[in-house]
Amino acid sequence: MDLTGKCVLVGVTGGIAAYKTCTLVSSLRKQGAEVCVAMTKNATEFVSPLTFETLSANKVTVETFDPKREWEVEHIALAKKADVCVIAPCTADFAAKLANGIADDFLSTTVMACTCPVLLAPAMNTNMLNSAAYRANESVLRERGVRFAETGSGRLACGDTGNGRMAEPEDIEGQVIDLLFPNKDYVGKTVLITAGGTIEPIDPVRFIGNRSSGKMGAALAKAATDRGAKVILVCGNVTVNIPEGRYERIDVTTTRDMYDAVMANYERADVIVKAAAPCDFRPVAVAENKIKSDKPLSVKFEKTEDIAEAVGLVKGDRKLVVFAAETTNLERNAAEKLAKKHADIVVANDVTQEGAGFGTDTNIATIVSESGAESLPKMSKSQLADIILDRAIGK
Ligand SMILES: Cc1cc2nc3c(=O)[nH]c(=O)nc-3n(C[C@H](O)[C@H](O)[C@H](O)COP(=O)(O)O)c2cc1C
Repeated sequence: MDLTGKCVLVGVTGGIAAYKTCTLVSSLRKQGAEVCVAMTKNATEFVSPLTFETLSANKVTVETFDPKREWEVEHIALAKKADVCVIAPCTADFAAKLANGIADDFLSTTVMACTCPVLLAPAMNTNMLNSAAYRANESVLRERGVRFAETGSGRLACGDTGNGRMAEPEDIEGQVIDLLFPNKDYVGKTVLITAGGTIEPIDPVRFIGNRSSGKMGAALAKAATDRGAKVILVCGNVTVNIPEGRYERIDVTTTRDMYDAVMANYERADVIVKAAAPCDFRPVAVAENKIKSDKPLSVKFEKTEDIAEAVGLVKGDRKLVVFAAETTNLERNAAEKLAKKHADIVVANDVTQEGAGFGTDTNIATIVSESGAESLPKMSKSQLADIILDRAIGK
């Protein structure tokens, strides 16, 4: 799972199961999440902060009144930053504090300030777990929307056998991921996405290309996968990092290659998003040898394949989303493109505007469909990706 861009706050409290949290932290970090560990003072008796610092590649906070603190009000900053907060292990003591609004150390204060989902992974002796006090605290917390990673049964560290073992790190991680990506409306769907620019050779060393970075296509691929889709990514020349193994990736060079890849695979897709910038022209002839640079050069170009139009003609019930980089008459040109390409959605952007178009992390788009034009404010490409995926399934 690609957790890049997500921040997980891992709270560790004073139980023997704290050693298992090392595996959780390490795994979340390996998947790209930013992991911020905060520990109670008692937790540091079980595992050293240095261990979590090394595994998370991040500072570990224990003290509220740390003279070396990085931010002015650190517990609030961390609470605001976290996308999910998980307490593993969660002691009976810590559950009691949360249930009663006691904020007397860094971790309890931070968790109280969290507005993100909170997941507790309790671990304790069976009699503590069954005690009226713990049961009452757990039920108060559940009523408030706090989630629980259920304890398991077995031999406990204290020598007793029974319920109270902390859930396994992979189960806790699964719940963390579910909380990070609650929207699964693309489960069972396949999305074919084209990304990046194509390049057309002039001679063995020179080519014509464009400035497409592949960022919009990569954001769409990530968003669709996060929502449960299988993604076929037809990838031209990209400068953005594409995580390995997450998508069925088909690398292409020229517009003809991209056309072939799309036409060979579109039938498997429910939604086709053409976020690539294929070259519209290619040299009529490619020189066999490197063209000498001693004379001026003139190259004759011909039109390349129109991939969107070709898909539009055969797509059937599949949804087709195309992009339109415009410099004038945005809405009119987009509406014309919608009709000409038999597309369902045109995402038009005025590439002359600051914060829109190639290479940027943001976009300013107008979504044009049969139901009209929707002008969106400047937003990140990942936010725009989610809106495009919403509209493609009628949301
Ligand atoms: C060896 C040892 C293991 C412990 N394991 C647990 C445990 O699994 N669950 C629990 O609720 N308390 C456990 N405790 C008791 C807690 O450490 C104690 O209640 C402490 O005050 C919790 O502090 P904290 O909630 O601030 O981390 C254990 C204590 C010791 C000495």
